[in-house]
Amino acid sequence: MSTNKEAWGSRVGLVLAMAGNAVGLGNFLRFPVQAVQNGGGAFIIPYLVCFVLMGIPLLWVEWSVGRFGGRQGNHSTPFILDTMGKRKFWKYFGVFGIFTNIAVAAYYTYIESWTLTYVWKSITRGFAGSSPEAVSAYFDSYTDSFMGIPVPALIIYVITLSLNIYILSKGLSGGVEKVAKFGMPMLVLFGAFLAIRGITLGPSGAPEGCTDCNSFLALDFLWKPQVSSIWDFKVWMAAAGQIFFTLSVGMGTIQCYASYVRSKDDIALNAMSAGWMNGFVEIVLGASVVIPIAVGYLGLEWAQNNAGFSMAFQTMPYLFDQWGSVLSVVAGVMWFGLLFFAGITSSLAMGTPWMGFMQDEFNWGRKKAALSFGVITLIVGLPSVMFYSQGVFGEYDYWAGTIALVVFALAEVILFAWVFGMTKGWAEINEGADITIPSFFKPIIKWVTPTLLLIVFLGALIKPVGGDWNKLFNGQFALADDSIIGQITNQGVKANKSFFADSFENDVEGES
Ligand code: PHE
Ligand code: NA
Repeated sequence: MSTNKEAWGSRVGLVLAMAGNAVGLGNFLRFPVQAVQNGGGAFIIPYLVCFVLMGIPLLWVEWSVGRFGGRQGNHSTPFILDTMGKRKFWKYFGVFGIFTNIAVAAYYTYIESWTLTYVWKSITRGFAGSSPEAVSAYFDSYTDSFMGIPVPALIIYVITLSLNIYILSKGLSGGVEKVAKFGMPMLVLFGAFLAIRGITLGPSGAPEGCTDCNSFLALDFLWKPQVSSIWDFKVWMAAAGQIFFTLSVGMGTIQCYASYVRSKDDIALNAMSAGWMNGFVEIVLGASVVIPIAVGYLGLEWAQNNAGFSMAFQTMPYLFDQWGSVLSVVAGVMWFGLLFFAGITSSLAMGTPWMGFMQDEFNWGRKKAALSFGVITLIVGLPSVMFYSQGVFGEYDYWAGTIALVVFALAEVILFAWVFGMTKGWAEINEGADITIPSFFKPIIKWVTPTLLLIVFLGALIKPVGGDWNKLFNGQFALADDSIIGQITNQGVKANKSFFADSFENDVEGES
């Protein structure tokens, strides 16, 4: 029997920890880039539809799956899923809910570690007076120094992992919850400051002769919904992918956190609160910082062509430096500090399924469980650190951070609605609920969510070149390298497979 005695300290703590799990680098680095690459306001409608028809239902499913498992003393998906379906399959399938986390944590904590370096560079004004090329080159040398081995980056990576290990070893209420209670308000505060700066910048940073350098143009572009996108399947796929990643569904972290909720405590409203908090931070704060500031100085067209994930590290420090000595330090510390809090509250979540499994099944103590998580993550992460510029990073993100989530969520919702059964499932979701969930969500969870997940999965399986779905209908179909089948068969082809890889390609082109 398990000696796992973890518990949440308070409801506020639980919701902040769950919000911290969801709010992550995805909100500030991934969302803005996805939005720009998919037509700005054109992205918003599919995004919201996916949120309501896939995101919210999956949140309810995962919270109730977790609480159900916790009631029987299970805190990781192999054993939780095992109690919900009779076949052995579910138990083995549940292993994804531990290892996907480790694969994602491996590169996620690496990005997290960069933010610490950049906080330090901001405090010490390491970019003062640097040219845009120099700021950008710093990043390249940081991730690819000394004969390809980025020694300082590796050291900071190990320090970041150690910090995660330390906090995990303090347990849920003593570690994770405390960090969320401090980190989340700080994140919102920093985010609000930078967003106001981004929104009010207007054309004031425009260099002479630049006609589209105005932050207002960015907001107009990002927020004005465009009905035309309804017919673009590519935009839908991108929106669904973003909803998955940003809500942390399909990974096993939500189930794990929820397994420590008391058996009759509300999950319906709590799940909503955490989900909407993530949405607010994403659509309002996430959209109001990097893109508007970049557009203010460099123009809308530039941003459309160069929107990339590393813009946050390669472009922002230079632009902040234009704000003078005091404000540049404040903005740098806030921006990278915000990213750090966003990152760590998510990477801690990725560690807890492993912790729960080891505590439940092997009776390991917290320290041993946390340390082993850190060591495994380091081993899995090393290739992505060492061969960063060769695209190993993108490989991880594609398989673990994109495809695995969809497959897991699809199987899980089938287990919940069809094997466990929707009657029992609906009762689970509503047990102890502090809100009345509209009953139309019952057929949505049973029919709509699994169907959409299946479409998303098939779409990733046979994605056409360039995501141009018209080709499929014109009979000119050719598989893209970054379709699942293309990935498996086109061996050796270094495709632009993931969001991260995409963005880096863009950055490289943008600078030459
Ligand atoms: N939701 C997090 C983000 O937006 C990422 C994450 C995915 C965290 C899955 C935990 C589990 O960055
Ligand atoms: Na998120």
